[in-house]
Amino acid sequence: MLSPESIAKIDYELTKYPSDRRQAAVMSALRIAQAEKGWLSKEIIAFVADYLGIPAIAALEVATFYNMYDLEPVGKYKITVCTNISCMLRDADQIVDHLQCKLGVGFNETTPDGKFTLKEGECMGACGGAPLFHVNNTKMHESLTPSKVDEILEGLK
Ligand code: FES
Repeated sequence: MLSPESIAKIDYELTKYPSDRRQAAVMSALRIAQAEKGWLSKEIIAFVADYLGIPAIAALEVATFYNMYDLEPVGKYKITVCTNISCMLRDADQIVDHLQCKLGVGFNETTPDGKFTLKEGECMGACGGAPLFHVNNTKMHESLTPSKVDEILEGLK
């Protein structure tokens, strides 16, 4: 279900924990699986759980708790905008409106070309850079303005 490369990465993560604590690697294993597959189907979550030797429900609980995991297909670029209090006070609504207008999609929707998915996120612990979003759970863009958003989107095309 996963490539040998992904399995090797999970095995490396497992070296960080005692051998009787394989469950500790579940977040990393799910991240690795998502990186390969693009999203986490129930079958992949079950595969990861089985590989770690934990109940499938234990992996599913983690996958459904954190919004970094995608339980359905997303676009090439998943943009997650923080709309929590600090970002809201720094005009996150304006950023959301601009993104929705530019992309023509709402939250939890993907552009018809499959390029962008827009998600709403909770506080990302980077309130000093509000308003902000991250792309594909990895690249954070802070102190956003509509024109800065345009530049970022242009760079993703
Ligand atoms: S409220 Fe947006 S990063 Fe904290």
